[in-house]
Amino acid sequence: MAILSIQNISKSYAGTDRKIQVLKACSLELDSGKIHAIVGPSGCGKSTLLMLCGGLIQPDDGQIVMGGKNLLELSPLHRASRVGFVFQRFHLIPYLNVEQNIMASCVARPVEDADARCEELMKRLGLDHRRGHIPARLSAGEQQRVALGRALMNRPSLLVADEPTGNLDEENTALLLDLMRDFTEQGGLVLMATHDSAVAGKADYKYVYQDGVFTR
Ligand SMILES: Nc1ncnc2c1ncn2[C@@H]1O[C@H](COP(=O)(O)OP(=O)(O)O)[C@@H](O)[C@H]1O
Ligand SMILES: [Mg+2]
Repeated sequence: MAILSIQNISKSYAGTDRKIQVLKACSLELDSGKIHAIVGPSGCGKSTLLMLCGGLIQPDDGQIVMGGKNLLELSPLHRASRVGFVFQRFHLIPYLNVEQNIMASCVARPVEDADARCEELMKRLGLDHRRGHIPARLSAGEQQRVALGRALMNRPSLLVADEPTGNLDEENTALLLDLMRDFTEQGGLVLMATHDSAVAGKADYKYVYQDGVFTR
């Protein structure tokens, strides 16, 4: 059964002279336990689709149903307890260190084994030696890994990741894919946007943009 159902989503933005129609009645059914990759040229609407699925922006039309519930009707905290989001530009909290940024997602949903889980994530992400650093004292690749740790910390059912390997070398890309695979093996759903064909090749399903819709 599809855990994430994107139903006839349309989305436009106000342009300078006329509106920019990004998605036109786009529908997708995404199964849990799988990695789904959204691919397409820069500016086609990948981030837009991801932000809609993360409940961060509203569609003009259509709905997104997750586990039988309309995503847009959930409260922001409830949504944040089920959806982990890795932003293209990370959006880490600038005055919190690595450990505190990862722990921050516990605000949305308490994690019983929070200390142990945070330790494990920092180790797996190769960040434990940087735990006390604030984002300004991290490389872009390190910040990207903190963002993934924060998104996974409270065990969401959906992980949305926007170009999550954009700043990673080969070794760290493999590490990130390993973490995503573990997440899907435990029943989670990964929805990521990427323009790295090697990364897209590791996904279970690929969706390509054409004329306002993404299709498999
Ligand atoms: N807030 C916004 N206001 C106006 N136009 C936007 C906004 N966000 C994105 N766009 C435009 O919508 C299109 C799709 O953007 P985006 O989803 O970010 O593409 P992608 O992630 O595939 O590069 C682009 O042409 C972009 O310029
Ligand atoms: Mg984008």
